[in-house]
Amino acid sequence: MRRFAILGSIASASPDFRLDDLPGTSGRLDIHARCIRAALLYAHGMRTDVVVYLVLLGGPRAPRTVRIDTTAKFIRPDERALATLLQKTLASTADDAGPGFHPHKDGIALARGGIDIVLADAANARLFLLEESGLEMRHHTTLDGEGDRLFVIGDHLGIDEVTQSALLARGAQRLSVGPVSLHAEDVVTLVTNEMDRRGVPR
Ligand SMILES: C[S@@+](CC[C@H](N)C(=O)[O-])C[C@H]1O[C@@H](n2cnc3c(N)ncnc32)[C@H](O)[C@@H]1O
Repeated sequence: MRRFAILGSIASASPDFRLDDLPGTSGRLDIHARCIRAALLYAHGMRTDVVVYLVLLGGPRAPRTVRIDTTAKFIRPDERALATLLQKTLASTADDAGPGFHPHKDGIALARGGIDIVLADAANARLFLLEESGLEMRHHTTLDGEGDRLFVIGDHLGIDEVTQSALLARGAQRLSVGPVSLHAEDVVTLVTNEMDRRGVPR
């Protein structure tokens, strides 16, 4: 299984944002919407073996994490539809029920908490910290083989040092998709393509 965690340093954990100005009012949830598309969809439908975690660290209800897997319905390729889905999801109170992920709808769950809750949920996954100065992905033999992989990717502000240290302390490996600093959704696409080429279930 491929798992992607997209960190949103100021991304709204509440539904209080405007769909007609998503970047300006949501703490850049537009990045998360594009990452959902890049991770879960291919040209003719939905992948079957992917989980996306949106770690939302901005606004009054933060920290909160949305988990979306490939059993989710109405995952459309356009950003506005995905933002609408996120807004409805964030209006849910499912995560008031207590610790851990709680289902909101098929394939969509919510939890209170940030990267810690992701690491607990993906406890058996090999960890990869995506950063420009990491080891070039094409040379990473540790990407091969069976089992889960969790790829942690920053937003427009990158990954803060505390989170980086926590990931490295858990054995995360630094992984680069190339020498140029890219947008998060492009990183998801390149990792996805590399996994496709290596025959990892998609
Ligand atoms: C727009 S970049 C962040 C740029 C931010 N200004 C910084 O200094 O970290 C978004 C995220 O994509 C990932 N990323 C971008 N380019 C990458 C690359 N060439 N290799 C690996 N990860 C990359 C990193 O996780 C980064 O935090």
